[in-house]
Amino acid sequence: MKPANPTDPQVHVINHPLVQHKLTLMRRKDASTSSFRTLLNELSMLMAYEVTRDMPMQEVEIETPLEKMTAHVIDGKKLVLVSILRAGTGILDGMLTVVPGARVGHIGLYRDPKTLQAVEYYFKMPKDMQERDVIVVDPMLATGNSAVAAIERVKATHPKSIKFLCLLTCPEGIATLRRLHPDVPIYTAAIDRQLNSHGYILPGLGDAGDRIFGTQ
Ligand code: URA
Repeated sequence: MKPANPTDPQVHVINHPLVQHKLTLMRRKDASTSSFRTLLNELSMLMAYEVTRDMPMQEVEIETPLEKMTAHVIDGKKLVLVSILRAGTGILDGMLTVVPGARVGHIGLYRDPKTLQAVEYYFKMPKDMQERDVIVVDPMLATGNSAVAAIERVKATHPKSIKFLCLLTCPEGIATLRRLHPDVPIYTAAIDRQLNSHGYILPGLGDAGDRIFGTQ
């Protein structure tokens, strides 16, 4: 994994060959709903490895069949995965496969098609957020408006830390999120060329929600 911009170590591009291969398969317009969903699930598991790399570990005493030892475990329950509805759900499932103890929060936001601004319709977080590390997930960081709004709401619950994980982004989305939440690191599988006038990423992969749920 390498920072997207050498001067911005807070932007992490997960350029592992397996991640890049699966992303290419997802981008293809003829990928079926079922293969798109399966690939996103697999990719989310792979990206989970990178985004949780610095998770705190605890020592526990265990017994192997041969002897006692001190070993390491994570406290998955301290992690909160916050899904931006509806497309965030596609990332959530894969991440929960590898961190099954994680708690889950949901933020319902839709993009006003005229202003491209995020409008909130749902917000539900686990309790005791002050003790938890948060990863906000959404497949596409496009205009950045939804991510900015979601992170603002999560910050109001005072978690220990916040990261943002997406599949795909573009320079415009990164610039907006970095400007408004410079303390939040971004993890992505790719940074595409640009946004179009409708707020879609180019070359991108189309509407992630429609492709996950087959609602096109
Ligand atoms: N949301 C999507 O689903 N796709 C884009 O390209 C941009 C935002």
